[in-house]
Amino acid sequence: MAVEVLSTDDGRAKTALSHAHAARWRAARDAGTPIPVGTASPPLQPARPEKPDLRAPRDVPRRRPGTAAGRIALLHAVAHIELNAVDLHWDIIARFGHVPMPQGFYDDWVRAADEESKHFNLMCDCLEALGSHYGALPAHAGMWRAAEDTVDDLFGRLAVVPMVLEARGLDVTPGMIEIFRKADITQAVQALETIYAEEVGHVAYGSKWFHYLCGRHEHDPKPMFHALVRKYFHGVLKPPFNAEKRAEAGLPPDFYWPLTEQDDSATD
Ligand SMILES: [Fe+2]
Ligand SMILES: [Fe+2]
Repeated sequence: MAVEVLSTDDGRAKTALSHAHAARWRAARDAGTPIPVGTASPPLQPARPEKPDLRAPRDVPRRRPGTAAGRIALLHAVAHIELNAVDLHWDIIARFGHVPMPQGFYDDWVRAADEESKHFNLMCDCLEALGSHYGALPAHAGMWRAAEDTVDDLFGRLAVVPMVLEARGLDVTPGMIEIFRKADITQAVQALETIYAEEVGHVAYGSKWFHYLCGRHEHDPKPMFHALVRKYFHGVLKPPFNAEKRAEAGLPPDFYWPLTEQDDSATD
């Protein structure tokens, strides 16, 4: 099911399939007959629609958020992030099927993928209400880089994707909500509030399963997290942080603050 989602290129089709598979997974769990987790060969990169054009971040034009064009660009960027997130959650299921994990691990990522699918569709609906659509603007290439870098390291995947990238979403989403509130675009305010509330859960799943894996291997989680983020994440973390929501998601300050500085002891 995960590979099928990853191999579907159109965004609306991908998210429809994602919803359907999540519902099937949940129904089987509720009936007491869970679908067994197998192993699969997911593609190294997920299928993507022909549009948007993917460009290096410096080649994606920046627009001021106080303008109508700027607000559309912002929604477009979030839609792109959400579509990647759908694939990231299905990928962690398919990619690491050989690592035995409790059923709850799959429940969490299936649910996260289901929610990201809703988020993508919410952003598409907002774009369409403003006379645009996903694919109308160029989008960041390289959003899949974290997945490729951690293709054989489940610790690294959990550290970088939910605990760094998705945690960043908690920091920046309140500011985005304000932009749409000021512009009186209620549909986008409500959509972003849904996203904001649900993303806390995704970061929490990351923290939960990262700590679980550390416990299994008797690794000290904090230094392990720092080492993995320095290995796989390019650059330092940037404050300001949403300390409250990060704490709610199981991410204490001593996990992220040390990563705002370059590690001078690093050898590379
Ligand atoms: Fe999301
Ligand atoms: Fe998420």
